[in-house]
Amino acid sequence: MDLGIAGRVAIVTGASAGIGYAVADELLANGASVLVVARNEARLNQAAEKLLGRKGAKVATLAADVAKPESAEIIVGKSIEAFGGLHILVNNAGRAHAGGLMNSSEEDWEEMTGVKLTSMRRMCKAAIPHMQKAGWGRIVNMSSIGGIYPNPKLFVSHVLSAAINNLTKSLAMEVAKDGILVNAIGIGAVATDNWTNNMVPAVRRARQEFSTLSDDDVIARISAELTPVGRAGTAREIAAIAAFLSSDRNGFVTGDTIEASGGADRFM
Ligand SMILES: NC(=O)c1ccc[n+]([C@@H]2O[C@H](COP(=O)([O-])OP(=O)(O)OC[C@H]3O[C@@H](n4cnc5c(N)ncnc54)[C@H](OP(=O)(O)O)[C@@H]3O)[C@@H](O)[C@H]2O)c1
Repeated sequence: MDLGIAGRVAIVTGASAGIGYAVADELLANGASVLVVARNEARLNQAAEKLLGRKGAKVATLAADVAKPESAEIIVGKSIEAFGGLHILVNNAGRAHAGGLMNSSEEDWEEMTGVKLTSMRRMCKAAIPHMQKAGWGRIVNMSSIGGIYPNPKLFVSHVLSAAINNLTKSLAMEVAKDGILVNAIGIGAVATDNWTNNMVPAVRRARQEFSTLSDDDVIARISAELTPVGRAGTAREIAAIAAFLSSDRNGFVTGDTIEASGGADRFM
């Protein structure tokens, strides 16, 4: 399927690894120019090198922390400078926080709110004037299945995911008249560094019987137990949905949170 985005300009935050990298690669494969953003410059440059391996790929990089107040304007400014416009924004940077209300700290809440929710609000606000000028825009916000089906073991992440879904719907109604469609993806368990670093330790604490398993085997076991399709998802599977939502082939889906969880309503 031709997504009709050749020549469009995209920003993907958190694009040096995992789902964000796969989204950037998918958009490039469809002829978009992509600004990839993440904090660690060395890892970002390595990712960009790999992405540039795709024939004709137009990639720019910016090392930035989306949680910083000034970052949104700087990131959007870089897209205009590098590619002369902005049509697609994929708000993907972030991670999970495992724990309930009683074992999450003020710092956890502040940090997670900054990187997941506040950064999205700022990025959307900075990006939308350029999409309005172009008369066409697509925004995809990475959320969690827990924004729809909350799991108290992931309190902070899931409260913020519900807020992201609400932001998505509200903003979609505000900008539909401008040709801008805004959607979220309610992601289930997808095997990335995020899962290994932030989820596996919590699963191990709760499940002593997993102590001899490798991290990959822990993910496989927990996914087989909780996911109807019997496995964790892949970054490529989420990227395919993000690419469709970012494309000209999507003209009628907006304000939605697409459930992409292999049928699961929880992943821990
Ligand atoms: N994997 C899952 O099962 C799952 C489930 C539900 C939701 N999600 C959401 O999907 C998104 C992608 O997750 P993933 O699993 O692909 O994570 P990942 O593999 O850990 O990759 C995260 C990416 O975001 C970047 N990043 C993190 N914090 C950042 C910040 N403050 N500013 C800029 N870049 C930042 C990281 O690079 P640097 O560290 O160098 O900045 C990296 O490129 C996240 O928002 C996550 O919450 C994932």
